[in-house]
Amino acid sequence: MAKLKKAFFCQNCGAQQAQWQGQCNSCKSWNSLVEEIIENDAATPKWSRMTNQSVQNPILINEVNTAKDPRIKTNDQELDRVLGGGIVPGAVILLGGEPGIGKSTLLLQLSLNLQIKVLYVSGEESHQQIKLRADRIGLNTDSCYLLSQTDTHKIFDQIPKINPQILIIDSIQTLNTPNVENGAGSVSQIKATAAELIKYAKTTNTPVLLVGHITKDGAIAGPKVLEHMVDTVLQFEGDRNHIYRILRARKNRFGATSEIGIYEMQAQGLRQVTNPSEVLITAKDEVLSGNAIAATIEGIRPMMIEVQALVSSAVYGTPQRSCTGFNAKRLNMLLAVLEKRGGFDLGSKDVFINITGGINIEDPALDLAVIAALLSSYHDMPISQNLCFASEIGLSGEIRPVAKIDLRVQEAEKLGFEKITISKFSKLGVSPKKIKLLSLTKVESLVDFLF
Ligand code: TYD
Ligand code: MG
Repeated sequence: MAKLKKAFFCQNCGAQQAQWQGQCNSCKSWNSLVEEIIENDAATPKWSRMTNQSVQNPILINEVNTAKDPRIKTNDQELDRVLGGGIVPGAVILLGGEPGIGKSTLLLQLSLNLQIKVLYVSGEESHQQIKLRADRIGLNTDSCYLLSQTDTHKIFDQIPKINPQILIIDSIQTLNTPNVENGAGSVSQIKATAAELIKYAKTTNTPVLLVGHITKDGAIAGPKVLEHMVDTVLQFEGDRNHIYRILRARKNRFGATSEIGIYEMQAQGLRQVTNPSEVLITAKDEVLSGNAIAATIEGIRPMMIEVQALVSSAVYGTPQRSCTGFNAKRLNMLLAVLEKRGGFDLGSKDVFINITGGINIEDPALDLAVIAALLSSYHDMPISQNLCFASEIGLSGEIRPVAKIDLRVQEAEKLGFEKITISKFSKLGVSPKKIKLLSLTKVESLVDFLF
């Protein structure tokens, strides 16, 4: 029996320390050190005998053959886009997201969509549960194998029987390796199992997709080092009560991180949303006050988004300020600008902002649309449906230009908007053919211009 070694691991950053301390030396978080057992002289897992890795000599960069490893297309445009054109052989991809957001659904759908051999290992669900989900999604394939297992060595024992071309693990927190004595989900387990899977991916050139749970504050549970170890970190986000989901690349060694994928959760699984603008704007037959449409950009994808505002007299002494999908601090700033520059008395008003679709947008170009929606609700006068907005607001009430204005104008034009309000200082590369540009410099002028 090998001698047991113990150490203290920070549950936040994964740092290892010999003694317990109140504060982690490396990430400075408090009360995060937990004693875990490490066993250093672990046996070599069986799978590593499957491949005989040859000794590699140094090679000139120009002689490296890149054509050899074509990316695996996933038959899912959104996923391909986020990954930078498909799955790179040997890549390890971590998919994080809140419980119930649709991680398992996304990966099962991917497995059923592919015509190559996939091994879907679940530590959370039984074969029957997965099959029921597959029936719900309504796809069928004869190249997807299921395995309910949490012990990595047992998984690696099964792998040679199937020789999958893609390995999916749902989830890394449920796995455990016999080399480490702690329970599944502990820092040393996650680190060890991830290291084994990464080694498997690199030696056999098989891509591995890992599901990772996230903590309350949105970080992937387990050591931060996990994110450094893998090639790509994807984040699946959205409001569980809404149907739209956004897939983002937070890190990608094989592509840009600015791309996003949009899905709609339906009764039959996730549907790709190829034209987000059309679904995010509510269709209505009469124009209502308090609505304004913003030409936003998420990553490099233009999207028209509807902002709804409600300004009403406050019932209680302290007026309420509430936002869904928009930063509350930003709203307070915009309200202060409106009070100071526009001369509005909003101190006795409740203000509510809602971005439709349950999508969280951080684009500053939303500012002008938020102000316009607020004004529209304040005066109870609707804004024309053919008008949209794209500008940031500065503290002195100036209307500032935003990035990638050409893309925004093109998207607005494509969707049939007749006018777009932008900053006077926006620099357009090409002047649009149909859509009319309305250039403003100050918030004050917006009031006169709108009503
Ligand atoms: P799931 O993939 O299990 O989430 P995660 O693995 O991230 O925890 O998704 C679960 C939710 O998705 C569940 O609340 C039901 C919903 N859902 C649908 O609406 N339609 C479907 O076809 C499927 C499979 C799930
Ligand atoms: Mg799941």
